[in-house]
Amino acid sequence: MQNFTFYNPTKLIFGKGQLEQLKTEVPLYGNKVLLVYGGGSIKRSGLYDNVMSTLNEIGVQVSELSGVEPNPRLTTAKKGIEICREQGIQFILAVGGGSVIDCTKLIAAGAKYNGDAWDLVTKKDVATEALPFGVVLTLAATGSEMNSGSVITNWETNEKYGWGSPVTYPKFSILDPENTYTVPKNQTVYGMVDMMVHTLEHYFHLQENTLLQDRMLEGLLRTVIETAPQLINDLENYDLRATILYNGTMALNGMISMGFQGDWATHNLEHAVSAVYDIPHGGGLAILFPNWMKHNLKVKPERFKQLAVRVFGVNPEGKSAEEAGLEGIEKLREFWSSIGAPSRLADYDIDDSQVEVMADKAMVNGEFGGFAKLNKEDCIAIYRASL
Ligand code: NZQ
Ligand code: ZN
Repeated sequence: MQNFTFYNPTKLIFGKGQLEQLKTEVPLYGNKVLLVYGGGSIKRSGLYDNVMSTLNEIGVQVSELSGVEPNPRLTTAKKGIEICREQGIQFILAVGGGSVIDCTKLIAAGAKYNGDAWDLVTKKDVATEALPFGVVLTLAATGSEMNSGSVITNWETNEKYGWGSPVTYPKFSILDPENTYTVPKNQTVYGMVDMMVHTLEHYFHLQENTLLQDRMLEGLLRTVIETAPQLINDLENYDLRATILYNGTMALNGMISMGFQGDWATHNLEHAVSAVYDIPHGGGLAILFPNWMKHNLKVKPERFKQLAVRVFGVNPEGKSAEEAGLEGIEKLREFWSSIGAPSRLADYDIDDSQVEVMADKAMVNGEFGGFAKLNKEDCIAIYRASL
């Protein structure tokens, strides 16, 4: 195990009726609030009205930025930054999924930054300050509600990058499973794929002696495997929604990342696909991850075998580590197909015409991947296998 320091300052507020906590949390940071949300799901579900009436009760002044896109855009974050500056905003409240939260993180840091916010995303510069912000989460997927990461797309240049800073952790996140009841089936599936791939990106590392970490990762994966088939047929089941909501947060809040470095190449590959085609992040991961696995099976077959045996119940008797590992990869693919996740880029009408372009985008900072370094040829091979 490597040395580590764990730090996560986000206050996690979980459960039914917890929206009430806005009344004590928000006034800690000011009374000029910017409410940030997406394309309207919170208006249809009634959450917008609940948030507004709660904020009205404590007498804060609320401005709004709506229309944050899935795969949030730089232009929208810049609009938010303008509002913060013009109106002297003191606190930002993000109500939505990962896209709304990620956009809010750039608004929060950009409002305090004397330059082009895109420089923070491309890591030309680092954020040293940010407006405080909180989250009311509506979709279980990214873990953005309890981490400092943010993924932003620039449609002028077709670039999508992740960035983050110690100043971009939410002050608090309110997670009420009931606020996820209205997430449609396909989006629920993308979210579950995303949290599984976060766990799997951790799982593939080269560190020895991570016994506890392995068991925690396997527990997260098995929990989604047990819960997902029930949840997709029972979308308003509190207990199932609660399990998945908690799982998504735990998969990317640092709790399972201690003592080793994961791989994360597939996230980079997927961001390059979304930068060109604007597809759902979880859908892209479901297509790419099994092909990343097959491409790298030989790097450390024992690791793939352990996953296959412990998570997918593969019987290893009489099989080489590679054979058992391959069976595990097939089981993962079958599981995702069984809950309705896509398996080919063709499912999004993506052909081979942009493979080189996507590989160049993925390679923008050179070779990548903590478990297996990928070069341009590797990227092209994985994209081609995914067509
Ligand atoms: O925009 P609205 O109308 O709210 O609709 C959204 C959106 O269309 C809808 N939705 C959200 N909550 C809902 C709901 N619909 C009905 N009822 C609800 N309760 O779902 C759609 C997708 O929302 P989005 O926020 O885009 O999904 P997700 O949470 O999966 O976020 C995806 C983004 O996060 C990035 C991805 O790349 C992508 O841009 N990621 C962020 C990470 C992070 N910050 O740590 C890590 C991830 O790996 C990921 O890359
Ligand atoms: Zn992800």
